[in-house]
Amino acid sequence: MIIRTLASSYGRVGAQGLFRESLLALCLISLAACGSSESVVPAVEDQPTMPAEGSNVGQIDEPTEGANTADSIETPTSDITTSRVLSPLPNPPLTAAPADDSEPIRALGPLSTVSEFFLVRNPTRILEDTYGTLTDADFDAGPLPAVISTPAHVDPTTNSAPYFDNLTDVEVFAGEELHVRFRPLDADGGIPGLFPAAIPAGARYDDNFDGTRSLIWRPLQPHIGIREFTITATDPVEPFYRTERTIRIKVKPPADPSDIINLPPVVNQIREHTLRVNDPVVVYIKVDDPNGTIPSLEILNQPAGATLVPHYAFPRISILRFVPRVTGAVSLNLLARDADDPTLTSSRVVTFEVLDEADFIRPGARLRELAAARDLLIGYASLLGFYERPDGAVYADIAAEEFNFVSTENSLKWDLLNPLPGQYQWAQADNLVQHAKARRQAVHGHTLIWHRQLPGWIKRSAFADRETHMREFIDRILTRYGKDVPVWDVVNEALEEDGTFRHSIWFEAMGANFIDTAFRQARLSAPEATLLYNDYDISFAGPKADGMVALMQSLKDAGTPVDGVGFQMHLDADFDRFAEVAETFQQVANLDLDIYISELDVSIRAGQNEAQQARVYEQVLSLCLNQPRCKAYQIWGFTDMYSWRREYNPLIFDRRYQPKPAYRALQRRLAEN
Ligand code: G3I
Repeated sequence: MIIRTLASSYGRVGAQGLFRESLLALCLISLAACGSSESVVPAVEDQPTMPAEGSNVGQIDEPTEGANTADSIETPTSDITTSRVLSPLPNPPLTAAPADDSEPIRALGPLSTVSEFFLVRNPTRILEDTYGTLTDADFDAGPLPAVISTPAHVDPTTNSAPYFDNLTDVEVFAGEELHVRFRPLDADGGIPGLFPAAIPAGARYDDNFDGTRSLIWRPLQPHIGIREFTITATDPVEPFYRTERTIRIKVKPPADPSDIINLPPVVNQIREHTLRVNDPVVVYIKVDDPNGTIPSLEILNQPAGATLVPHYAFPRISILRFVPRVTGAVSLNLLARDADDPTLTSSRVVTFEVLDEADFIRPGARLRELAAARDLLIGYASLLGFYERPDGAVYADIAAEEFNFVSTENSLKWDLLNPLPGQYQWAQADNLVQHAKARRQAVHGHTLIWHRQLPGWIKRSAFADRETHMREFIDRILTRYGKDVPVWDVVNEALEEDGTFRHSIWFEAMGANFIDTAFRQARLSAPEATLLYNDYDISFAGPKADGMVALMQSLKDAGTPVDGVGFQMHLDADFDRFAEVAETFQQVANLDLDIYISELDVSIRAGQNEAQQARVYEQVLSLCLNQPRCKAYQIWGFTDMYSWRREYNPLIFDRRYQPKPAYRALQRRLAEN
């Protein structure tokens, strides 16, 4: 059965229908032979914070490297007819297709919280993007010229640009302390402003309180080599009249390495988690050393029956796996010991809360059961590598109990899947698809073409190659997952806040027609999939919503194979523009398009509370239930423990996996007639 036909015409056949068909179409992901392997190591994620929808600040884009603004085609499909046919993809391909050496391999040993199927891992390969590595020749070529940015209204003949007094490239021996003083000057008088780009880890950037600042840094063995440091001076009168200087810092090995101070090792931070008694728990413990050596790890109070194994690919990581058999607190006393001086140690105590199984039982029906009775898909976004987190077991169980639809928050993004030309990392997405299959969830693929989370090699690619890169990527991802993943965000966030096209690397190379091209390639590569355009700030009245409707109209007129619109809906607890959302939904339905609420979360900001949050969740659900074309109600995560906006507690379970008023509001609304 065709998923697309099902999605566009099934009314509210919804969850069972889409889930059943996607399962029928699901295929087993073959497990290749064994070998050494690596997995993406979970990190304490510092998520970028995007203002809430309904606020007036757009998302901050990543700069596009090497981009020259082409004559952009402001209205998509300006030269596209309904009969447009894409040319065949090149053979041989522009970049190497996924090869067998990219195939994931079985993850053996006590490495995760999963028990119902074998995890896979990416094979160990050195995936290092060496672009931008500086050589002695670069350093010897002498300092880079200043880069001056002059606003149109500034006349350089009457207002000279700021400049730096005696700023040159510098050399330093590892272990020595480097002082670089930045003295910005301006011939017209006044003291220019000053701001640096990235400051090296462990360095200081001190204010000398005399109009100058100093970079103070003691580089060590890992810093040996050449790096750049950029600093900008701003005109005292015209702050956007700027002079940027990039200096090179060459860190050299000393004649006698023992001259370098030996600093103590560290045990990396581990968040405190809430666990469920009798669950398998894994803790990825990373030790490190500022001098670049590999410390040893000791657990002074290793839980009974625990295993501790080295990570297959990261020598600084050890994986502790144990099962807490009693409720209460579990503390791990972790000690790192220096590789060169065993007397040099550091320690960290991490404490987990262990609750009883009864503490995770929720009264009433599960959301997925209530939603299925209404033929509605209800979903969450799945944390990358959740099975490698201490609370991975309870995370997975609650997600499976409550949701029949799962979005790939990060595991299907380009920078993770295809970090270098011809190199593919399938394991995280394979594991998520396998896990969804085991828990009877359909998968929402997020996202094929976006301006963020792109690998450097794509951002640096030539304009002339970008359409082929885009189409080859779409074809390869959908060839692998098109049958297992029935719904896809084909193009994500192509519009600016004012409704015009975002000048992403795709727009700059192909104009707005990249959107039509992406959808046509997706349809060719996965004929049965439901193909969506996804964006934020498009659900309530405004220029961006108008831009979205105009875009969808022009795509439909051109015969672009688009099936629906994903409304991200990253909201705040004081959101109240529900009538406008209903109107926008109806405008999209009038275009014969489906509606997916694709990334809902409701941040609680200062002065707001959980009751307001619950009301927004419930009102948005009502909007979906009252709109026949609304197929899915998806939350961007489900526990505040792992939200991209963690600091605003925007989800329906708290960090201890306890349901919040918003959860109960959804239960209540779904149970209503
Ligand atoms: O995986 C690497 C890890 O190996 C590394 O050690 C670590 C270092 O910080 O970074 C990890 O990657 C992080 C990635 O999430 C996976 O965890 C990135 O730094 C981090 O920037 C990325 O954040 C994601 C963000 O999109 C990126 O723009 C958020 O988790 C994700 O929730 C968010 O989701 C977006 C949607 O895709 C599009 N709509 C808006 C939404 C919120 O921004």
